[in-house]
Amino acid sequence: MIVLEGVTFSYDGGPPVLKDVDLSVGEGEYLGLAGPNGCGKTTLAMHLNGLLRPRAGTVTVDGLSVADPSSLRKIRALVGMVFQDPDSQIVGMTVEEDVAFGPLNLGLPPREVRRRLEESLEQVGIAHLRRRSPHTLSGGEKRLVAVAGVLAMRPRYIVFDEPAAFLDQAGRALVLGVMNRLHREGITIVHITHDLADLVAADRLVVMEAGTVTLQGPPPEVFGALMEGEGPLAPPPLARLLWGLKRDGFPVRTDVLTVDGARLTIGALLGGR
Ligand SMILES: Nc1ncnc2c1ncn2[C@@H]1O[C@H](COP(=O)(O)OP(=O)(O)O)[C@@H](O)[C@H]1O
Ligand SMILES: [Mg+2]
Repeated sequence: MIVLEGVTFSYDGGPPVLKDVDLSVGEGEYLGLAGPNGCGKTTLAMHLNGLLRPRAGTVTVDGLSVADPSSLRKIRALVGMVFQDPDSQIVGMTVEEDVAFGPLNLGLPPREVRRRLEESLEQVGIAHLRRRSPHTLSGGEKRLVAVAGVLAMRPRYIVFDEPAAFLDQAGRALVLGVMNRLHREGITIVHITHDLADLVAADRLVVMEAGTVTLQGPPPEVFGALMEGEGPLAPPPLARLLWGLKRDGFPVRTDVLTVDGARLTIGALLGGR
């Protein structure tokens, strides 16, 4: 479990970017963290594995405190990070080299490095790209290389910062599909985005605004609450449609967040067939 209590942070001499944030990430959870640009999501992400340390408050990962320098190595191994810009994470001349970089750096024996490399490539479905230069890959493929590199470190948690940013529909589906599969395989996922439509299937949503957590709960409840508010973050179109119909007095379900689910509840209203 990752637990943040009263986390406050500011960059050198600047105004506070995180203000008294309490947050927990349960084992096996798919947690969505959403908020408008600049609200502090990436800053928060960097607290989850000790890349940044809070000015006040505490962060613990499986009971280990990020304030304890002797725990940092262990914490970074437990919590993998897939950064927003995949290019910033690429270090190898080939996909293979890139994915093997972390395990090699850990000083693991060559056989173990090879095993992790094979498994990670397989897990994200990019074994066929192994000899390619990462810089020649599509945006979606690059992101998967970054994911494989993180998986090779065998993390228990993976934080994805805007994993669908700059991707087309296909790239987006590819990356989100891999994230869902990793979750089903038991990895705890923290998915950060400014786009709530990517988080309809999350176990729990946390909404941030200007450095504080303003809402959290199951996606349908959070979308309902956002419909009431006037904040900068709008619920996804389907949620707006269903909540809008409900507000107009129609007895539709508001907990179905897929096109097919919405079709069924609206179809029932129209008399069904
Ligand atoms: N390295 C940095 N130095 C100073 N200010 C920063 C730095 N990184 C981010 N900020 C500021 O912190 C605030 C939150 O940024 P960020 O965590 O990147 O938000 P988000 O990921 O939600 O867009 C912004 O006002 C941003 O300008
Ligand atoms: Mg960000």
